[in-house]
Amino acid sequence: MADVVARCRELAAITEEEGRTTRWFGGDAMARANELAGRWMAEAGMAVRVDAALNLVGSLPGSDPDAGTLLLGSHLDTVRDAGAFDGPLGVIAAIECVERLRAREVTLPFGVDVLGFSDEEGLRFGTAYLGSRAVAGTLDEETRALVGGAPDAASRRGERLLGYVELHIEQGPVLEERNVPVGVVASIAGATRAEVAFTGRAGHAGTVPMELRRDAAVALAEFVLAVERTARAAPGLVATVGQLAAEPGAPNVIPGRAACSLDVRHAEDAARAQAVVALSERAAAIASERGVELAWQERMATPATPMDPELTELLATAVAEQGLADVRLASGAGHDAVALSALTGTAMLFVRCAGGISHHPDESVDDADVAVAIDVLERFMRLLAGGR
Ligand code: GLV
Ligand code: MN
Ligand code: MN
Repeated sequence: MADVVARCRELAAITEEEGRTTRWFGGDAMARANELAGRWMAEAGMAVRVDAALNLVGSLPGSDPDAGTLLLGSHLDTVRDAGAFDGPLGVIAAIECVERLRAREVTLPFGVDVLGFSDEEGLRFGTAYLGSRAVAGTLDEETRALVGGAPDAASRRGERLLGYVELHIEQGPVLEERNVPVGVVASIAGATRAEVAFTGRAGHAGTVPMELRRDAAVALAEFVLAVERTARAAPGLVATVGQLAAEPGAPNVIPGRAACSLDVRHAEDAARAQAVVALSERAAAIASERGVELAWQERMATPATPMDPELTELLATAVAEQGLADVRLASGAGHDAVALSALTGTAMLFVRCAGGISHHPDESVDDADVAVAIDVLERFMRLLAGGR
């Protein structure tokens, strides 16, 4: 058995930024990560290609050409200063499953494709799922232009697909609290991302009196506090400003422009939509009170996504047959399964991660938990094939 955890750590050394793991869509580091993971796919007996949306695809044919294809995988891009497991674990574990089938001389009737998606985090453009949306055939004009080339060629629409199953670290504390290695995902929370910019007037920090200023950064600061207040006041709502910038960016210049990202999530779409409207109204009010201009650009909105009931039950059966507790949980994090659910049924298996920590270099998983998860995924595939 390949050391899946060690492979994830090997991938984590491939980066755009010295000293920390950062891989964005279309970057050189992503090309190198695809090359390394592609080599592991080839060693496991898969035919390997990079599709028109820069996703890595490893294909293992089944014995029955009419039986269709099961999609497995996750993403190989990362956030800035990422951990080693968010994304890569699902790709490497799937490769390991395929390798095991070969070692046991098991041929499934259906084909298995392992996908390493090119953009789940949205680090480069602020809009996530470019790779998986291309595969699902749901890119719109704007996202198609971001991907470049002819990304519709990556679409799997019209093929006989049996579903998409993604293994992923939990990124939360539930499995640790319940003292179980894996859990089955019931649904994924919806998310809205926007870019919010205030434009005032730059000027001299020593000469412009306070009452005559149109300082864009203080408007932004007010908005950031409103985001926190709004999320704290609504049960289940989480909202984050993760990127902030003031321009032109000098200690003795009043900021003429200040912009931030906004990320809003809730398990219920209506609650998320209501919060986004309230925040955009608050931003407009701040702009008018301070005499600055507001530009609000929505970058992405994905609805809450329930997993496919049949695939999910089969995955839960695989968990139970491994002698494990059947723990179901909701995902607050987004996943490629959101985009893929427009194409085919999706199911997800979460693996316990230490302290629920993710989007942080301290992300870590236990080898034993990973081994259990791979056992479950392998059993799931055999169940899907109608055998044991
Ligand atoms: C991806 O990790 C997301 O939930 O933003
Ligand atoms: Mn992530
Ligand atoms: Mn992820």
